[in-house]
Amino acid sequence: MASIRIPRGTQDILPGEIEKWQLIEEKARELCEKFQYNEIRTPIFEHTELFLRSVGDTTDIVQKEMYTFEDRGERSLTLRPEGTAAVVRSFVENKMFGHAGQPVKLYYMGPMFRYERPQAGRYRQFVQFGVEAIGSNDPAIDAEVIALAMTLYKEMGLKKLKLIINSLGDKESRTAHREALINHFKPRIGEFCTDCQNRLTKNPMRILDCKQDRDHELMKSAPSIIDYLNGDSKKYFEKVQQYLTDLDIAFEVDPNLVRGLDYYNHTAFEIMSEAEGFGAITTLCGGGRYNGLTEEIGGPEAPGIGFALSIERFIAALEAEQIKLPIKEKIDCYLVSLGEEAKDYTVGLLQKLRLAGYSAERDYLDRKIKAQFKAADRANAKYVAILGEDELKVNKINLKSMETGEQTEVQLDTFVEKFTELNK
Ligand code: HAM
Repeated sequence: MASIRIPRGTQDILPGEIEKWQLIEEKARELCEKFQYNEIRTPIFEHTELFLRSVGDTTDIVQKEMYTFEDRGERSLTLRPEGTAAVVRSFVENKMFGHAGQPVKLYYMGPMFRYERPQAGRYRQFVQFGVEAIGSNDPAIDAEVIALAMTLYKEMGLKKLKLIINSLGDKESRTAHREALINHFKPRIGEFCTDCQNRLTKNPMRILDCKQDRDHELMKSAPSIIDYLNGDSKKYFEKVQQYLTDLDIAFEVDPNLVRGLDYYNHTAFEIMSEAEGFGAITTLCGGGRYNGLTEEIGGPEAPGIGFALSIERFIAALEAEQIKLPIKEKIDCYLVSLGEEAKDYTVGLLQKLRLAGYSAERDYLDRKIKAQFKAADRANAKYVAILGEDELKVNKINLKSMETGEQTEVQLDTFVEKFTELNK
């Protein structure tokens, strides 16, 4: 029979690789605790309508990349392409705006799905870690969100990072910019793809983000949002920059940064890897402010900001910078036994070691003693405990340190206590 292969754009994360994921996840949780973000878990699928209203129906994500299906009850559902929409939906649905602790600061980690053309750093299923702070319009929280992402990367050892920021302004600024964009593209819109032609009146800013027309000469000369920011928007953006400077976070303002999702206004940012040899897609993390999104989803006004980063690209950046993570490779004790009775005895002994807090293993393949030692080596055991028939009879076990080669005879019924003493 033909074998079944993994779906395109997905990957198995196997032991040996998964330890990196776990370290990043642990560090992310630890930082969220320090920055005071709490975990939220939302479903993997949502009503399709949620993404149409939030991510936006003229974006590439909604138009080309969603895994949408009808369930048996004829509802249109979509595997989440990102996390913000669901978090904001949950914020509204669970009336978190009524809680005393505002702003509500949340984080999430989990798989997202986009039907994209797979390539290095671009998957159809990928894992995002993201945070959302909802309920504050203080530019200091914009800086906090950016600082969290930067701190996570730096604490994992990344050095070659570039933070770019932009302001997409408030509604008034956006409207003025929109007019300017329409005037700019309209005379020659026939030279653009059909998607862009549709975007011209619906959402001209999306043209700037088009992968197909990226190199058209009108792209470079397009009016920049920065020139259309009104006083309030400018002031807000200046404050964010001031706080970043206060936090010693280097950044560049890139007036061309528009982001690929519709819900953004004011602050938008991306963190890129500048490591040599990193693939063509260098964006590690993206985020921004989304005032007005709660209303879009049927809730009261609650301004928000957040970011998301994928663990896949995080690991690729670590590899590009050749950073070795402190992965625990050793196990504490491997039990080697000789003879039927001794082998039986190790079943209980193994459990005792594990309950006392040690990582421990024994042979399950009826191996000869030499092969058991080999297995202990492969497992990188710190100690090997050897139990033979004769030792069992006299209540003894041999403990060998694999680091020093030193061997001691220990009383069998107090072995775990003795082992603990040695490992103090
Ligand atoms: P996004 O820019 O679409 O924003 O995605 C954020 C990050 O997810 C990217 O920078 C990248 O690291 C990762 N990513 C996206 N697509 C893929 C893919 N196909 N394969 C691997 N990694 C990928 C958002 O998703 C927003 N929800 C971020 C946000 C949160 N804005 C405010 N709050």
